[in-house]
Amino acid sequence: MSRWTWTLGLLAAGCTSRPAAPPVEARVAPLALPAPAPDLDPAPDAVRVRLTAERTSEAPLRYAYNGQRPGPVIRANVGDRLTVELTNGLPAPTTIHWHGVQVPWAMDGVPWMSAPVPAGGQFTYEFNLLHPGTFWYHPHFDTEKQVDAGLYGLLIVDDPAEPAADDEVLLVFDADDEHRPATDDLPDGDPGRPAHGHGGRAAHWTVNGEPGPVQWTGRGGQRVRVRMLNASNTGYLALTWPGLRQIAGDQGLLPAPQTPDVVVLAPGDRAEFEWLLGREGFTLDRLPWSLNGGRTYAEAEPLVDVVVEAPADAPAPLALPYPGGAPSADPPYSDLIYTFSGSDRTGIWLINGERFPDVTIDSVAVGQRPVLEIRNVSASHHPFHIHGMRFEILSIDGAPPPYRRVEDTIDVGIRQRVRVQLWPDEPGDWMAHCHLLPHADDGMMTVLRVRP
Ligand code: C2O
Ligand code: CU
Repeated sequence: MSRWTWTLGLLAAGCTSRPAAPPVEARVAPLALPAPAPDLDPAPDAVRVRLTAERTSEAPLRYAYNGQRPGPVIRANVGDRLTVELTNGLPAPTTIHWHGVQVPWAMDGVPWMSAPVPAGGQFTYEFNLLHPGTFWYHPHFDTEKQVDAGLYGLLIVDDPAEPAADDEVLLVFDADDEHRPATDDLPDGDPGRPAHGHGGRAAHWTVNGEPGPVQWTGRGGQRVRVRMLNASNTGYLALTWPGLRQIAGDQGLLPAPQTPDVVVLAPGDRAEFEWLLGREGFTLDRLPWSLNGGRTYAEAEPLVDVVVEAPADAPAPLALPYPGGAPSADPPYSDLIYTFSGSDRTGIWLINGERFPDVTIDSVAVGQRPVLEIRNVSASHHPFHIHGMRFEILSIDGAPPPYRRVEDTIDVGIRQRVRVQLWPDEPGDWMAHCHLLPHADDGMMTVLRVRP
């Protein structure tokens, strides 16, 4: 019995003289996986889906894609051509950005670069999927507001060469006390719309749209592939569970599986794990974590209770095609430096002392492998994200990472210095920003030009 059901059992035993019935497990809502988007193209190497961004009937007002939150799971194989027909049913313009996916610049969904889709309008996104991994999609117009209102979903690119797991669990986390009332009825600055959220100490997390904890039931002997996304605007997720085994990060398989005690997912981060189910269930706990100082001493919060039916010996892990390889050497120079500064007190957040859109545009060439140093001189963490390209972590505060890490979103801790090698392979003017969406909205964004 996991800690959570044990606690419930104790509570139940305390308020009744009879043994608790029905089973205490029934009191925790079962985990519902987000429904997939149907593929409307019969061709084997093409996937076509329709997404409608719309208001839901909820109060306070929320948004959703196709009426579901998280949005439909878009699923394709690496090498496929993906077509997404977006209908904008919102009373405001919108776009879709394909977070972590290398797309042609015109498909990136950034309104400064290509016109947003007006209210009532339509746009068709179309691109080839070059890399496998767990990605996600969300608007990039009035991003803080529209993502917070519920517009986000998973985009999973499978590699058919990988052996299939016995089961799969998708976990999209969001922090539900970020939601603001009547998101599209109140202009910025209206007293009814609270000021930008800072601090990120979101207390209540949802799992696939439901308040945690939720319960998932598997069978002993199963190998389960678990994909996670932190879709929250400001909340960091520090997660722990017994037997934590990470197999992939933002950009597909790690060089080899890793077994840290705790995994931290910053806003925008994804990761994949393997659950090797044996004789006992376990609980995924969220450890308290503050933007302004990391781990805190408050109590852990259970988010997912894993129950094992038909206990059996734990299976051997899947033989996934881990790429191996050591981190690249960190050279003694930088091609680019981004200094992150600002404060909650001023509500102004800057890169190199500049506030978007009034920024200097640096440029690099396609195929180059420039070294970017990110210096955080502020008293807050910042998840750095850049569009259109992947990057490899070269060092964090001078030390190489413990394994070769290829990412599109990386947490930069307080006073930390993170050095990365960028892999620009698509020409365009790519956004680079903090993925704490209020920080991005307050100015912590810049542009990197990639010349053909
Ligand atoms: Cu997840 Cu610029 O975005
Ligand atoms: Cu930030």
